[in-house]
Amino acid sequence: MSSVSRRRTWNVHRLPPAEGRIFLITGGNAGIGYFAAEQLAATGAVVVLGSRDAAKADAAMASIRSHVAGANVRHLQLDLADLSSLKTAVDSLDLDHLDAVVYNAGVALDDPPRRETEDGHELMFGTNHLGHFALTQWPAPLLSAAPAGRIVTVGSFAARSERLDLGDLQSARDYRPKRTYGRSKLAQMCFGFELDRRLRGVGSTVLSVVAHPGGALDSLTPSRPPVHVTTPGERLRGLPTGLLVQGKDAGAWPAVRAVLDPEVRGGQLWGPRVFGLRGTPRCETVPSHMTDPAVAARLWAASGELADTDPHLGFR
Ligand SMILES: NC(=O)c1ccc[n+]([C@@H]2O[C@H](COP(=O)([O-])OP(=O)(O)OC[C@H]3O[C@@H](n4cnc5c(N)ncnc54)[C@H](OP(=O)(O)O)[C@@H]3O)[C@@H](O)[C@H]2O)c1
Repeated sequence: MSSVSRRRTWNVHRLPPAEGRIFLITGGNAGIGYFAAEQLAATGAVVVLGSRDAAKADAAMASIRSHVAGANVRHLQLDLADLSSLKTAVDSLDLDHLDAVVYNAGVALDDPPRRETEDGHELMFGTNHLGHFALTQWPAPLLSAAPAGRIVTVGSFAARSERLDLGDLQSARDYRPKRTYGRSKLAQMCFGFELDRRLRGVGSTVLSVVAHPGGALDSLTPSRPPVHVTTPGERLRGLPTGLLVQGKDAGAWPAVRAVLDPEVRGGQLWGPRVFGLRGTPRCETVPSHMTDPAVAARLWAASGELADTDPHLGFR
């Protein structure tokens, strides 16, 4: 039998079992991260919700348990905007391995003024990119201890039309929220692809994969009270947009596939099938500006300096 005929069709509603595996999802208490956690919990895996808010994490875990019989979920106190807290957070996991981490948490601001993290970094670049970049060094040994660890970085279609300004990564000179958000997602995606190259370079068993959810709206998302409630009116008003985009439950599918599918390879980009905006996950062509090695090397060096990290992020 050829490898193609052996390959089974991916069914987002019938995921392969993953008992005994452990997955961490940043921002697992809400939105796409919540649904990724719910879907992964249904595979029998242990799912750790990285969340800065214990009450929100408790509500999310209660909701997952009410939808998934026997769900094994835990909370990790995690604030990506506080880089100095990340090591202690990961140490508190008290695990001997980790099968995958999903870099899902994100901030998207619509309006000025420019805001900063406690560490003095622009809030979106500081949380979305620097927070995950700096986090990587702490679970690195746990991922290396798994048979085939994975880091899944959640990017965005918003990054397609952006280019990084390496001289002004934190939008200090020219702040436009939508552009700064798109660039923070582009930085994450460049990082994900560069991490793949570096992991291969050192012969690591860990894969770095990039996924994006397409367009995922709250109004098209099933209710999970008290985590998320869509009123019948919101659902009705959202119906026309459903032709183009989807709910956050479906927005989680590409990241979930990137975590679970044994066919997934490092350096791939996974997103929704229909115009990259909605539908079941498929592997996409990676835009060349996301894999420019010179840009990625400069971004890596600048991020390392800003976040004061080990240059290898724990992978040697
Ligand atoms: N929705 C879309 O259409 C879309 C499109 C493209 C890409 N994306 C990406 O998909 C990911 C999830 O988006 P979403 O729509 O699900 O967003 P969301 O509903 O706003 O959820 C964002 C999550 O990130 C968490 N978070 C924010 N700042 C954090 C911090 N400092 N430390 C830890 N967690 C933090 C939030 O926690 P709190 O609840 O504590 O705030 C929340 O759990 C993001 O990376 C986003 O950029 C989304």
